[in-house]
Amino acid sequence: MSEPVQTPQTSPAPFPTRIFSGIQPSGGLTLGNYLGALKRFVEKQDEGIETVYCLVDMHAITVWQDPVKLRHQTREAAAGFIAAGIDPKRSILFNQSQVTAHVELGWIFNCIARMGWMSRMTQFKDKAGKNSENVSLGLFAYPSLMAADILAYKATHVPVGEDQKQHLELCRDIAIKFNNDYKVDFFPVVEPVIEGAATRVMSLRDGTNKMSKSDPSDQSRINLTDDADTIGKKIRKAKTDMDPLPDHVDGLKDRPEAKNLVNIYAALAGHTPAQVIRDYAGAQFGTFKPALADLAVAKLEPITTEMNRLMKDPAEIDRILGEGAVRADALARPVLEQVYDIIGMIRSKPF
Ligand code: TYM
Repeated sequence: MSEPVQTPQTSPAPFPTRIFSGIQPSGGLTLGNYLGALKRFVEKQDEGIETVYCLVDMHAITVWQDPVKLRHQTREAAAGFIAAGIDPKRSILFNQSQVTAHVELGWIFNCIARMGWMSRMTQFKDKAGKNSENVSLGLFAYPSLMAADILAYKATHVPVGEDQKQHLELCRDIAIKFNNDYKVDFFPVVEPVIEGAATRVMSLRDGTNKMSKSDPSDQSRINLTDDADTIGKKIRKAKTDMDPLPDHVDGLKDRPEAKNLVNIYAALAGHTPAQVIRDYAGAQFGTFKPALADLAVAKLEPITTEMNRLMKDPAEIDRILGEGAVRADALARPVLEQVYDIIGMIRSKPF
């Protein structure tokens, strides 16, 4: 039996609003990453909230990554963030391995989190499959490093897609247990921010599976590096049923593929699914798919073009990530030093 999760304290210390979120550079960015996360990261930044965004390369290596590809994907993801509207002056943008506070706090959290909590993580079960004896230890401990990413900044809000909800619940459990174990009001109990029409973008080949950078079929996803022609083709070939679009969103209930395309349209257009259904009630996919393809190209092509331009100067991307890492370190290091003090570590090394 694992130790039960303790209940939150009644009077959490007031923590200033700070947003943290991350994306794994374990493949190219997809439309799912864009709509479920990146587009919303930009919105939060533009609302004037303090925003810290991280390319979590240490998480990426919990499954095998070719070193040359990993470096390329990390730069490409950084280019994607900037091309989508993240301003490295207003947001802190960096890669995780350059700020060692993450792994240091991650280890401490490994000693707070319980084996039972980790074993219940559905993403671990999905990724490990029948092969759980043979996956890395890092994959098992993944959520405690994720909690460290967030809590090293005492972040209060974490915008993510729906698939990260359980990990964020675990982050809350770790914060609560740390606060209770050490009788402090040190870590905030974070709020997941899961909002908008596309919190779970599904595969274009199977409306019951999440669109994912690790899906073996490239046809299942739209990559932020796809050109206009490829985007158009993938959308036109997307799996759908034979019926026209309904005249009410309730009519999408048992139609996962149709619902997915409507949600993608809504998220790209900045509308609700109900508005999209009002505009396209009764339309055949022969009409709706080209409209969606045009919209997707109009929204994504400028990002892809800018990403390609930025990727021509990898040294500049590295410089931006390095500068972000210095700023991130300045926030996380004092938090970590306080944690070391709370847990009883001697810190006598002269700096
Ligand atoms: P990752 O890299 O799988 O995905 C990054 C973000 O994109 C969202 N997302 C989606 N949203 C909607 N539909 C989809 N099909 C879709 N696919 C991905 C994810 O929900 C996520 O918000 N564990 C995290 C990375 C991480 C992190 C963190 C996130 C590490 N530390 C701290 C937040 C805070 C992950 O694997 O995301």
